[in-house]
Amino acid sequence: MEENIYIANSSRYNDSDKIYRRCGRSGVLLPKVSLGLWQNFGSSSPFERSRDILHTAFDNGITHFDLANNYGPPYGSAEETFGKIMEQDFRPYRDEIFISTKAGYDMWEGPYGNWGSRKYLIASLDQSLRRMKLDYVDLFYTHRYDPHTPLEETLQAIVDIVRAGKALYAGISRWPLEALKFAYDYLKERDVPLLIYQGRLNLIDRAPQEEGVLDFCLEKGVGFISFSPLAQGLLTERYLNEIPTDSRMSENRTLTAERLTPELLQYLHTLKSIADDRGENMAQTALAWILAQEGVTSTLVGASSTEQLKRNLDCIHSVPFTPEHLKILG
Ligand SMILES: NC(=O)c1ccc[n+]([C@@H]2O[C@H](COP(=O)([O-])OP(=O)(O)OC[C@H]3O[C@@H](n4cnc5c(N)ncnc54)[C@H](OP(=O)(O)O)[C@@H]3O)[C@@H](O)[C@H]2O)c1
Repeated sequence: MEENIYIANSSRYNDSDKIYRRCGRSGVLLPKVSLGLWQNFGSSSPFERSRDILHTAFDNGITHFDLANNYGPPYGSAEETFGKIMEQDFRPYRDEIFISTKAGYDMWEGPYGNWGSRKYLIASLDQSLRRMKLDYVDLFYTHRYDPHTPLEETLQAIVDIVRAGKALYAGISRWPLEALKFAYDYLKERDVPLLIYQGRLNLIDRAPQEEGVLDFCLEKGVGFISFSPLAQGLLTERYLNEIPTDSRMSENRTLTAERLTPELLQYLHTLKSIADDRGENMAQTALAWILAQEGVTSTLVGASSTEQLKRNLDCIHSVPFTPEHLKILG
């Protein structure tokens, strides 16, 4: 039992200048690589592996962990895993860790377990806190835009959550630009400034740039964190030659084989050759590209092993892109 006691690596903040970035115009610094618990930390994943990945993250200065009520699988179980690790290992470090959770997708049966009502958001956060064994989270997000609930209701619930001390900061994920603009003003007027926007930005999905979300965040001093920065593993060596049996795609949950079109495979091989030129692994290059986009605070990686996480962390040491490489990457 005793050898199982976790003591964080004492050199975890040695590279702070390289690791952290300011989140918009706020007092919060976030690591350039943050860890998300969407798929690989539920009760269907081996607990010791999850624990090892979380330790490796924190030991390397990753202070931000991103969750949501429905992460697992099954729903809720990633928060439970995190709660166990909180109790077992991370409690002495709570004030060094920035924890986010969200609500917005289907979570429980009936009319109050989904979307953006005050009823759902407040009950869901209370459940998340119990699962994670926390008094408060650092950041609470509305997970998606709800076209049927008045935005004022959703946003006032967020304001009240922050005022009640259940979350320190407010975040928005996946809201369209016009709704984001409304949210920014609503929250600002109530002295609960929008800390961060979470959207999918990677080499093969640039919607936040194309739709003006990233520019808006930059202009207003709102942070931006990119989810699925490796396109769920596509932008790594994983699928270059085959679909590995232990991969997310072979499990066919949220990444399907139809994504691997000949055009995409060609692009992946191009990325591989650029990564080779730079002396990097593909994930490292793909993450470095995101971090080079103006306005980006952090990338929110998933990892199914400590080795993957370590390779992702290499992006902190990446060199700038040549104009030629940028042109090829598009
Ligand atoms: N706001 C939202 O609506 C939303 C939506 C999605 C995600 N998110 C957040 O974003 C986080 C990350 O999303 P994601 O898991 O899709 O991120 P991702 O980093 O794009 O994909 C993670 C997957 O890529 C593979 N991978 C990661 N690093 C690798 C490496 N170095 N070499 C080879 N393969 C590697 C692994 O696949 P295998 O499992 O196959 O090994 C891993 O499970 C989530 O945990 C969540 O916090 C938010």
